[in-house]
Amino acid sequence: MVETARQFLGRDDVDSVEAILADDSIDFGDLVHPTPARGEAIFTWDYERSRPGLAKLYEKAKTSQWNGSTDLDWSTPVDPERVALEMAPAAAMFQQRMAELPGSPVARWGPKEWTQFQVEALNWRMSQFLHGEQGALICTAKIVATTPWIDAKYYAATQVMDEARHVEVFSRYLDTKLEGHYPVNPALQLLIDDIIGDSRWDMTYMGMQIMVEGLALAAFGFMHHVTEEPLLKKLLRYVMADEARHVAFGVLSLQEYYAGLGAAELRERQEFAFEAALRMRDRLMMHRVWETMGVDRRTVTEFLLGMRRMRNNPFQAALFSKIVPNCKKLGLLDAGDGWLRDRFTDIGVIQFEDAADTGEEYESFDEVAKDRAAG
Ligand SMILES: [Fe+2]
Ligand SMILES: [Fe+2]
Repeated sequence: MVETARQFLGRDDVDSVEAILADDSIDFGDLVHPTPARGEAIFTWDYERSRPGLAKLYEKAKTSQWNGSTDLDWSTPVDPERVALEMAPAAAMFQQRMAELPGSPVARWGPKEWTQFQVEALNWRMSQFLHGEQGALICTAKIVATTPWIDAKYYAATQVMDEARHVEVFSRYLDTKLEGHYPVNPALQLLIDDIIGDSRWDMTYMGMQIMVEGLALAAFGFMHHVTEEPLLKKLLRYVMADEARHVAFGVLSLQEYYAGLGAAELRERQEFAFEAALRMRDRLMMHRVWETMGVDRRTVTEFLLGMRRMRNNPFQAALFSKIVPNCKKLGLLDAGDGWLRDRFTDIGVIQFEDAADTGEEYESFDEVAKDRAAG
């Protein structure tokens, strides 16, 4: 059980259906969403290149740039339904379990409904990738300003360019290859707003590079593994090569910084990580997709929480397969009395603690160099 001494996400109970529904109905605007950015822009007069790990990553980033308009073949014809159905086998076990439970809102669904669900889920997923990429673009620009280290400012500047390219290619894929966009998921945007609104410079890394990008890397990896659509496959392969560097940037920077923090400060980081994980759990409920399919939000929220969802859905839990080992590598899992370990056990994702972390993974992800070498 979650402690009651401190509220998480401002909720008395993190599993409160009312609280989840309240967050879920927040309007983030039709055209723009202004949110306060906090923190100080730090000028450093120490131009010494004293962080070889970051310097190496920066060199790698400079030679791994690619061009979203010329390195991808946008003339490739795409059948959205076919792409959507490629995701179906992984979700089948969860769907079957969901259909069999008493009172299930999907008990009567046949192949036609599940196909439509997959098409909507693909549109939703790709839309959230797009919005998340914009979050990364803005967060990384913030890191350029707020990090006190020159090597980190250099590296973060390359990530700003990477994220602009990611927004560009996801937007183009949604506009020209799929049939349907979704607005940002409120749980995702609330998390991004929290990250931008936090004045502590390391929290931008923690929220974006470790949590949001850790989840994205796992999700891209899954989609890349199952899809046969050549444009999407190459797009994801290239984006993942960049994302692996981004997560490594977070791990390298925070390992150094967290080694110097005391127990109370580490606890604050653990709590931030836990709240971010809850936001992502709420996000993965995909309320708007269920609504499009005629299942109301309250029904699906109660239903999914009742299933102890992630524990019963290995496909969803696997999205935490990068986050948990990276938290372990940062010392956050076991700091203090192992507080975060207990929380991750509670939400059913601790089994990934020894999965490959992302500290050095980017070395094996150099897609641009591989393709150039292959001509
Ligand atoms: Fe990205
Ligand atoms: Fe990224």
